[in-house]
Amino acid sequence: MTTPLPTNEDAPERKWTVLPLLEWTAHYLRERSFEESRLNAELLLAHALRLPRLGLYLQFDRPLAARELALFKKLLLRRMTHEPVQYILGETEFMGLPFEVTSAVLIPRPETENLVEESIRWLKSSGSAGGRILEIGTGSGNIAVALGKFLPGAHVTSLETSGDALEVARRNCERHGLGNVEFLRRDVFSAELEGEFDGRVFDAVVSNPPYVSEAEFNLLEPEVREFEPRLATTDGADGFRFIRRIAGLATGVLRPGGGMFLEIGYGQAEAAARIARESGLTGIGVQNDFGGIGRILTGFAAGGFPPS
Ligand SMILES: C[S@@+](CC[C@H](N)C(=O)[O-])C[C@H]1O[C@@H](n2cnc3c(N)ncnc32)[C@H](O)[C@@H]1O
Repeated sequence: MTTPLPTNEDAPERKWTVLPLLEWTAHYLRERSFEESRLNAELLLAHALRLPRLGLYLQFDRPLAARELALFKKLLLRRMTHEPVQYILGETEFMGLPFEVTSAVLIPRPETENLVEESIRWLKSSGSAGGRILEIGTGSGNIAVALGKFLPGAHVTSLETSGDALEVARRNCERHGLGNVEFLRRDVFSAELEGEFDGRVFDAVVSNPPYVSEAEFNLLEPEVREFEPRLATTDGADGFRFIRRIAGLATGVLRPGGGMFLEIGYGQAEAAARIARESGLTGIGVQNDFGGIGRILTGFAAGGFPPS
């Protein structure tokens, strides 16, 4: 039998304190097959109490005021609909930096940190840490802001088609006080895009594009399918629409020897590498993520020094 949501009205004699409420909530979520149930319970309760998560551990016996319990219940009910906890909190972390997230943007994923780290590593080792970077598909601005923050001498141009996402990204950029990141509202498929840049001026093209195929989209968990922007997740086609376009664009805008760094999805490595090769890029490689899945496609514009 399941326990009802806790209310002080149902049991006025019961005063909820932090630890029992955490345990109750973790159990409640676990029974309903939510993953990371204890972590979810801690994040929601810390948010309701305006505490850092670890602050809960110093206040296990703290009684909740009625309004705190009411707010916590609201947050929990949102989570029960499968709304991702990051949207409920309005914030997440990427590369150790805080980012605002709303339903207009994809929630940054840990795999994408590999993409940023790999781009930074190559830009530094090839002497381009102060170069120009084109990032495609801004979302929350996580990639552009992290690149701008960790490569303060670089200049990042970030393209996004969604005006609502760009507003979030601009706030995130401001929050981190960066003057070396510019956001442009552009459709990456626009035929005029190549002409907008002054030839082959970029040292790197970096992107985490929508790479889920239309067919796979319907199999995604409800947290993604029902809450994250569809525009950010699926290309509405075979999953390779953006990969083809960005690999082609990269050959036109990268300086000779410049690098393309693309996040790709499960099972896409071989076909994505072929697309990059057929687009004219050289030194093609695919790196695995921590789960052993081919995740980062790299390729280099012809005519430069051998890629490092
Ligand atoms: C997978 S999300 C990546 C967001 C963020 N950079 C990240 O790593 O979390 C892809 C982004 O591409 C944007 N996008 C979709 N179609 C686009 C297009 N035609 N031109 C430019 N951006 C597009 C989406 O709105 C979304 O923000």
